[in-house]
Amino acid sequence: MNNKLGMFIHWGIYSIYGIHEQVLARYDLPKNEYEASVKEFNPTEFDAESIVLLAKNAGMKYICFTAKHHDGFCMWDTKYTDYNIMNTPYNRDILRMLADACDKHGIALSIYYSNPDWHHPSAYNHLSSHQWKSDPDTSNPAAYREFVKNQLRELCSNYGKLYTFFWDIPPRYEDRSFNELIRSLQPGILINNRGYDEGDFATPERTVPEGSRFKTLTEACQSVGSQSWGYRTNEDYYSARYLMSSIDKIMAMGGSYLLNIGPMPSGLVDSRSEGLIRRVGSWYNKVSHSLKDTEEDTFGYEIYGDDKFIAIKKGGKTYLHFYEGMKIAAISFTKWPGIPVKAVLLNSGEKLKVAYERLPELFWFRQEKSDDHVLRIRDIPVDDYPDEPIVIELTW
Ligand code: GLC
Repeated sequence: MNNKLGMFIHWGIYSIYGIHEQVLARYDLPKNEYEASVKEFNPTEFDAESIVLLAKNAGMKYICFTAKHHDGFCMWDTKYTDYNIMNTPYNRDILRMLADACDKHGIALSIYYSNPDWHHPSAYNHLSSHQWKSDPDTSNPAAYREFVKNQLRELCSNYGKLYTFFWDIPPRYEDRSFNELIRSLQPGILINNRGYDEGDFATPERTVPEGSRFKTLTEACQSVGSQSWGYRTNEDYYSARYLMSSIDKIMAMGGSYLLNIGPMPSGLVDSRSEGLIRRVGSWYNKVSHSLKDTEEDTFGYEIYGDDKFIAIKKGGKTYLHFYEGMKIAAISFTKWPGIPVKAVLLNSGEKLKVAYERLPELFWFRQEKSDDHVLRIRDIPVDDYPDEPIVIELTW
């Protein structure tokens, strides 16, 4: 999991409501009414390949799909509950279609699986959150654990190689046999930290952590919409600027990033979400090589002004990620390791001018050091990229 961008997909019968993936609980709907939507779910316009290609063209390397969300509805052909996609008018295994399209286009597949299950009568877990209110009476942890393991066997045996497993809502007790089962069926899989043990990687959600480097394996997740992960008709979308900035910062810190969309009940992706994925991709494809397989550049660069950046390096090059863009159309290093042979703006691919010069603003401040010179990279066309993180490649 070294610096990969992936697509998160939240999709289920909740998309019919166009409100939120947890609409059942959060809007207190009558459960029988909600569950009757199974008879309406018919995403005839779903085209797994077009979604996989949307991800691929944006530079994404994997797709993480909600096989089962908190409502308990299963988007694959499972033997262990009737509450699944095969009992909708659509009657096709969506996970299978996605797995095949991923395989065809060289995109890895990951599975999201919710521990809370508002349909299964035994699922109530008093230690955890997001539980269905009326289920304490029928709670049967042993029966539910067996059910989950049976479903894990299906998910980990029938859909080819899985890249990661994304548990959601930690059960808050340890039982290492769950991840052991997953690992026995999917050697090499990476498992997140929201399951029955600590797993392999951390999952900061909807946040951009402080700092310059993650200490542990990390995959951040964020949705294109600020209110919901599932399809929402009236969504308050994030700006492309914000999404690109958070992707750049998190990946420069060594993390991976899952960017989520929620397909509509028809199976299509709404145009705003699609537009955001394309916009993010058009920037990401220009800079992605500067985010992969890098390490922290610990030199301790200092620059004039307060533009924020993270320095990372690989193979004799340093990449400066100005994840919030730049206020000043130049970088004036007041502390630098040497003169680079080349400086390139990755946003455009153009070579930038490098000079060792005097900087008037620094005259009095640097006088005591008897040097008011700086290493200056100038004429950076920052206004050509008003919403993009700016990335500079220095070759030493
Ligand atoms: C939160 C939401 C949940 C969503 C998840 C994705 O836990 O409550 O609905 O699936 O984030 O990480």
